Amino acid sequence: MNQIVVNLKKTKHTVSRMIYGHFSEHLGRCIYEGLFVGKDSPIPHVNGMRTDVVNALKEIKIPVLRWPGGCFADEYHWKDGIGDPAARKRMVNTHWGGVVEDNSFGTHEFLELCRQLGCEPYINGNLGSGEIAEMQEWVEYMTFKGESPMANLRRANGREEPWAVSYFGIGNENWGCGGNMRAEYYADLYRRYATYVRNYGENKIFRIASGPGADYGHDNLKQCWTRTMMENARQLFDGLALHYYTLTGHWGESKGSATDFTEAEYYTTLRRSLWLDEVIKQHAAVIRRFDPNNRVKIIFDEWGTWHDCEPGTNPGFLYQQNTMRDALVAAASLHIFNSHADIVHMANIAQTVNVLQAVILTDGAKMLLTPTYHVFNMLKGHQDAALLESHQICGAAGEGVPQLSHSATVKDGAVTLTVCNMSADQTAEVSLSLLGQHVKVQEAAMLTSDSIAGKNTFEQPSAVQPGDFSGIRLEEYNKTGTQMTLKLPACSVVRLTLGEGS
Ligand code: AHR
Repeated sequence: MNQIVVNLKKTKHTVSRMIYGHFSEHLGRCIYEGLFVGKDSPIPHVNGMRTDVVNALKEIKIPVLRWPGGCFADEYHWKDGIGDPAARKRMVNTHWGGVVEDNSFGTHEFLELCRQLGCEPYINGNLGSGEIAEMQEWVEYMTFKGESPMANLRRANGREEPWAVSYFGIGNENWGCGGNMRAEYYADLYRRYATYVRNYGENKIFRIASGPGADYGHDNLKQCWTRTMMENARQLFDGLALHYYTLTGHWGESKGSATDFTEAEYYTTLRRSLWLDEVIKQHAAVIRRFDPNNRVKIIFDEWGTWHDCEPGTNPGFLYQQNTMRDALVAAASLHIFNSHADIVHMANIAQTVNVLQAVILTDGAKMLLTPTYHVFNMLKGHQDAALLESHQICGAAGEGVPQLSHSATVKDGAVTLTVCNMSADQTAEVSLSLLGQHVKVQEAAMLTSDSIAGKNTFEQPSAVQPGDFSGIRLEEYNKTGTQMTLKLPACSVVRLTLGEGS
């Protein structure tokens, strides 16, 4: 029998809502068409931001959005994206598909998008090919209130007040697309650039350094990069960025279809997503050795599945479909981030719309919500809640993947418990012990499908969506708390909301 025990009386750290963050790059149809359609579009929009997508992201309480890349960030020159859109520089997006980037979505547009979403902006600066002064001026342009060349330029471009920008990345993957640097070289450069990323007035910047290639193809630097950064530059950053994708092939090889996969491939992907736990533990151990007071945080600003792109689409656009397999990866990964929220301050799934493990796909004016979207919606109760002490005992679902993954948090007296049955084909019966209190289920939802490859399409956009969960049997209230049995269908994500009472 599978078992989950939750101690309702013992809380651990708070799960920062930033863990439920997103990433949007100038890549394929993420920004253009996915988020921004421009002011002349027949697609409903507010100031060029598509209304359907903005509303869907508000529904999942998107807390933070990273922009403009990714690899694109280290080739992006922000001054190309301000002023009259018609006069902005047209450039080649060399990283992603070689298409024309007309810079119609720039700093003002991104910060307007964040305003509409009600989320924090996370801006990634260009260290790879940009100048120090350019980075310094970007921060001044956005955040300086008084009289200065950049603040005056901002005003001339129609924005009187500065914006609040808390999160700023200084380079991206600088061991790879961000300049192919050695850790020692980047650490020195980082120190120079970070010196000029200033706090103006009340605006306090949380500076984020590029971390190692956690585990895909570049076996270079890993903890060694982390150690070098901690040894040489830790005083100048608040967060170190890690990236981890569940790539199944080697770099440049086929990664397998997003929708047409075997049970063995399903388990391989899940197993690789669970490796996140080890990646965090290993880097946390190195970080804490140099930072015993827990100041430096992990910013997991790229994570998710990376499959082959959809047949017939531009391979440089990284457009992939999304199935129940991706939903399970999302839920299990978010559970892992919750469990390490004492050091993981933020995580950003790659990428919000139309790229990699997207929560939303669009086709012209049409939009669909992926199974991964529904997981973010079901798990949003964990945002800013306190993690409860809990344990699970379970067998293996297959190929080294445990049958269960779970997380329990409490906020304002309401407990959110989310549980996955990772098995491709077996129901999981779970004995659930909720210690310390008599509680009752206030709401129970489930995401599942009759196939591990269940997905939403533009023809059937609601094929996979959450429904009620009825597989709960209350066993007893006793002096230790509340005892229940849950019956979870294969390949499912369940959320229970519990409150005091019997
Ligand atoms: O998310 C796609 C790319 O993956 C990003 O641009 C880069 O940082 C990573 O290699």
